[in-house]
Amino acid sequence: MSLEQKIETLKAKHAAALAGGGEARVAKQHEGGKLTARERIAALLDEGSFEELDALKVHRTAGVEKIPGDGVVTGFGRVEGRPVAVFAQDFTVFGGSLSEAYAQKICKVMDLALKVGCPVIGLNDSGGARIQEGVVSLGGYADIFLRNTLASGVVPQLSLIMGPCAGGAVYSPAITDFITMVKGTSYMFVTGPEVIKAVTHEEVTKEELGGASTHSAKSGVAHFVAGSDLAALAHARELLSYLPSNNLGEAPRFAPRAEMPLENADLDKVVPDDPSKPYDIRAIISGVVDDGKFLEVHEAFAPNLVVGFARLEGRSIGIVANQPAYFAGVLDISASEKGARFVRFCDAFNIPLLTFEDVPGFLPGVTQEHGGIIRHGAKLLFAFAEATVPKVTVITRKAYGGAYCVMASKHLRTDFNFAYPTAEIAVMGADGAMNILHGKTIASATDPVAKKAELVADYNEKFANPYIAAEHGFVDEVILPRQTRAKLLKAFAFLDTKRDQVPPKKHGNIPL
Ligand code: HXC
Repeated sequence: MSLEQKIETLKAKHAAALAGGGEARVAKQHEGGKLTARERIAALLDEGSFEELDALKVHRTAGVEKIPGDGVVTGFGRVEGRPVAVFAQDFTVFGGSLSEAYAQKICKVMDLALKVGCPVIGLNDSGGARIQEGVVSLGGYADIFLRNTLASGVVPQLSLIMGPCAGGAVYSPAITDFITMVKGTSYMFVTGPEVIKAVTHEEVTKEELGGASTHSAKSGVAHFVAGSDLAALAHARELLSYLPSNNLGEAPRFAPRAEMPLENADLDKVVPDDPSKPYDIRAIISGVVDDGKFLEVHEAFAPNLVVGFARLEGRSIGIVANQPAYFAGVLDISASEKGARFVRFCDAFNIPLLTFEDVPGFLPGVTQEHGGIIRHGAKLLFAFAEATVPKVTVITRKAYGGAYCVMASKHLRTDFNFAYPTAEIAVMGADGAMNILHGKTIASATDPVAKKAELVADYNEKFANPYIAAEHGFVDEVILPRQTRAKLLKAFAFLDTKRDQVPPKKHGNIPL
């Protein structure tokens, strides 16, 4: 064969790979509001940076058409100049279903990512296990699950769900660090509506069962929701900007766009005088962080706890904050799990933690107790205690009971603990405390209401303030809200070189 003929053969093979499942299926993909695998990769990566691997790899099942690339596009490229590994499932080829060869392609880029220390981004759009391949396909999934697990805590793993994701296939994204679902075109479930109808007689649509709204608000499976493929891909680029490439590195630093004053008098007005009045903790967050910019994670799930990424002097930080505007900021099962997972992510990837605390305690109730608030609440406690990254806490108002201990208290080796003058740090709120301590006195008083008010005022004066904690050194400094940014900048700058560790062990046993 002449050189020209060899070049033509190569071109033809690449053209076949680029064509995927063919024009008709590509058109169907577009009609459904979805981009193709290659279009998604192009939107995700820096222009021209994609290097494809295994474009000519095919499956090995006899009697089934072979399409070069076999249903998944894999390779590496860059996001804002930093390397990433990527795989994009191609729904136009056998519905993006997973064959042995396809799994090997994904495993290859995951192995490379682990060696070089770069994030793995999976763009999921698949009909699941390739039916014609049987157990070989199932084995391919398990090979991927193993790599997801080994890569956990070593390189960030992002999953974008951009189409179907069902059966055991959901467990690869579930092991990864962040899941983004595209509204209207994606769904995730272990068993679909048909099986559910047959087994439990419940009738439910795909969207209700496992659409983006369900998983972002109810199950907490999805961390983010995007309105379109392009929005999801742009969001992934933004998320990556807060993350290091691996567990040995640090997130890139970006100078704030605008000069922010060190003192912000507006912050003095956020926490209401009346301790029973709600306020939005995000007003404090945005008044403190660079450019007021906060990338919230799990926004719709357990909104009584707010978590997400921001920057302080360009340094990426993870924020965990009770949200008094929702359910008084109480800690429940979902909030505890949400917080614990976020704290552990930040700790694994050297992202300092900033905690804003205003929590009346753990949510009382039979449902919570029977649902396991003891072990779920313990997750958050465990995560904060275990974390060795720089940790700073600001108590804005309530820090009651066990929740005081849990929310990155000094006792969990938090480096700097600040409190506003409005802080109330005590075993419980005045009302409950007075009923327990002086119930009989109040009941037998000539004016029980006046007696209780007198006792409550006395208790608040004595206990519900930040000064006893400050006297013990549990609070390092009582600061004015307006000083928050200045204090945080100094604290985190000082902690830049922090080194701390946990005793040598195989791994801890977080109460799962
Ligand atoms: C082989 C598949 C396939 C599969 C879809 N296709 N799923 N081929 N194996 N699992 C093919 C179809 O034959 C079709 O081929 C093309 O992909 C597009 O599928 P359509 O059905 O036309 O598309 P659509 O109407 O959009 O429906 C998509 C779908 C549906 C909802 C995903 O295809 C479907 O229900 N597929 C089966 C899903 C499933 O049960 N998978 C197994 C799950 S269990 P042509 O040639 O017509 O274009 C599992 C276990 C994993 O995955 C375990 C891991 C441990």
